[in-house]
Amino acid sequence: MTATSMRTHLCGELREAHAGSRVVLCGWIARRREHGEHLAFLDLRDHSGTVQAVVDASVDARSEWVVRIEGTVAARPEGTRNDQLATGAVEIVDCAVEVLNEAEPPAFPVDSRADAVDETVRLRHRYLDLRRERMQRNLRLRASVNAAIRGAMAGQGFVEVETPMLMPSTPEGAREFLVPSRKEPGAFYALPQSPQLWKQLLMVAGTDRYYQIARCLRDEDLRADRQYEFTQLDAEMSFVDVDDVLAAIGAAVTAAATAATGSAPPPIERITWREAMERFGSDKPDLRFGLELVELTGIFSATEFKAFAGAPSIKGIRVPAADLPEAASAGRGRLDALTDRAKQLGAKGLVWVKVAADGGLESPVAKFLSETERAALVAAMGAVPGDLLLVVADEWSTTCEVLGQLRNDLARPPVHEGPYRYVWVVEFPLFVGVNAQTGRPQPGHHPFCHPHPDDIDRLESDPMSVRALAYDLVLNGWELGSGSIRIHEPELQRRVFRHLGIADDEADRRFGFFLQPFRHGAPPHGGFAFGIDRLVAILAGEENIREVIAFPKLQSGADPMTGAPTPVADAQLGELGIRTLPRPAR
Ligand code: AMO
Ligand code: AMP
Repeated sequence: MTATSMRTHLCGELREAHAGSRVVLCGWIARRREHGEHLAFLDLRDHSGTVQAVVDASVDARSEWVVRIEGTVAARPEGTRNDQLATGAVEIVDCAVEVLNEAEPPAFPVDSRADAVDETVRLRHRYLDLRRERMQRNLRLRASVNAAIRGAMAGQGFVEVETPMLMPSTPEGAREFLVPSRKEPGAFYALPQSPQLWKQLLMVAGTDRYYQIARCLRDEDLRADRQYEFTQLDAEMSFVDVDDVLAAIGAAVTAAATAATGSAPPPIERITWREAMERFGSDKPDLRFGLELVELTGIFSATEFKAFAGAPSIKGIRVPAADLPEAASAGRGRLDALTDRAKQLGAKGLVWVKVAADGGLESPVAKFLSETERAALVAAMGAVPGDLLLVVADEWSTTCEVLGQLRNDLARPPVHEGPYRYVWVVEFPLFVGVNAQTGRPQPGHHPFCHPHPDDIDRLESDPMSVRALAYDLVLNGWELGSGSIRIHEPELQRRVFRHLGIADDEADRRFGFFLQPFRHGAPPHGGFAFGIDRLVAILAGEENIREVIAFPKLQSGADPMTGAPTPVADAQLGELGIRTLPRPAR
């Protein structure tokens, strides 16, 4: 499989068992070292690894030149073996070296030293950067994840369908990339934020099970887990409930993780959104560490302490001294910084309590708490000497979110550090908060999510308590994907729209192209999409999805290699009916 008309082996596959064979290798010179007057060592690299060749010092071959070497595999003399290298027990001797191409000196060393090189420089010379072992490993890991996903989806009867990249602008949530039309100047296509519209139409069309490894485009601010262009495993199924979708997607994730790590991950846990908020203060709970939120509201129901009196929700986290050695000795400055952080996150304040060696409580508010309250606090939190307790009183969502964020600030390991903890978060609320302009509830996900059948009765009377048949997949605190059972009943869809303040005629005007097909026999259906870049990054042990994308954009959105985005000629703009305005002054 690896031999071609130009080579017999790959550099990285040679072992002592090959000693004595005559081989032909092709690759790049990773390193050249002179050995005395007459000999030189060439480290020859291809995607599989490197191997040492011993050549005549007169051979002219330098860093990153492309060469073909014919030689004999020899066991290295005792004492010269390199245990760090897979091929370190052998070297190639009696070599004939053919230079296939010369190379300019590289902008940076094409090995692990480039990890420390400025990312702009790495991306400007991405073709060199990708030559490195780490990057080749990531590309191949990604390919094996994609292959495993395709296998798992096809094996479950999913049909791969490609959907359009040029589509109308839709109100899906993120800012779209627009493409001007030449045939109709002034009109635009939008690039897909996701294939959401198409996959639902495929269900109406009777496809039953669709999937696609889909490129999606969103004009968002870029971060470690976000690029303009990214890839989803996108899927949709007919005649299903939540369990069916989670089982099908879970099988694909499990296959992908197994292909990447060599062992199957444990079954994916499942918790409700409410429990995730109650225990972890986040809809993206990171289950790798403790510091769970503890419910304290009841303890302070009759408190004299003003900040807690009458608060709808009081919760705390216990920071054990053993987990965070600094906590026990947390000085005033550190505690003030935590309080500032809590306020910046939206809390009115933060109560800290240190448990002293004798079990006494040390806190600026200790004197406002009754003996009973203090004892109940220690008991509820399971506090022991050395612990630092952090307590917030506020609206339920603020209390949860602030403590959840402090929990992450204090103890969350980097995302790519094991173990891998996958969790389904189910039963998201249908609405989150209220739109400041319309005074109407805002959809939690999008307006096409099916309300939980047990809650539909409360759609008008108590909308904020209505759960959706919507779910996320979370891995180590990163949102890996999300999905829902969709509304397939036109009347229920109208009801949800009306509730959002969108009248029937406006809904028809804005979403008609989507709603009309639903009047032609839409089956009950639901689906899911997860970010392949995010999954592969974590499985590859990378902290940034750029490391698992062959040609990513910098955080600024630019590609330093091609220079994109670039201006285009006025003539080209003219054809599109576009004239650009002068750049706004910065
Ligand atoms: P959603 O918008 O939650 O759902 O996207 C699904 C997953 O796609 C990944 N993702 C991204 N990855 C990298 N860069 C980005 N800019 C980016 N944006 C999203 C995330 C995210 O969880 N159509 C719905 C799914 C459905 O309901 O079936 C959708 O796109 O991992
Ligand atoms: P104050 O009564 O505002 O001076 O606050 C007294 C202490 O309680 C300070 O340490 C505040 O940070 C803290 N605090 C005030 N409001 C809250 C709250 N809602 N939740 C937790 N701590 C609070």
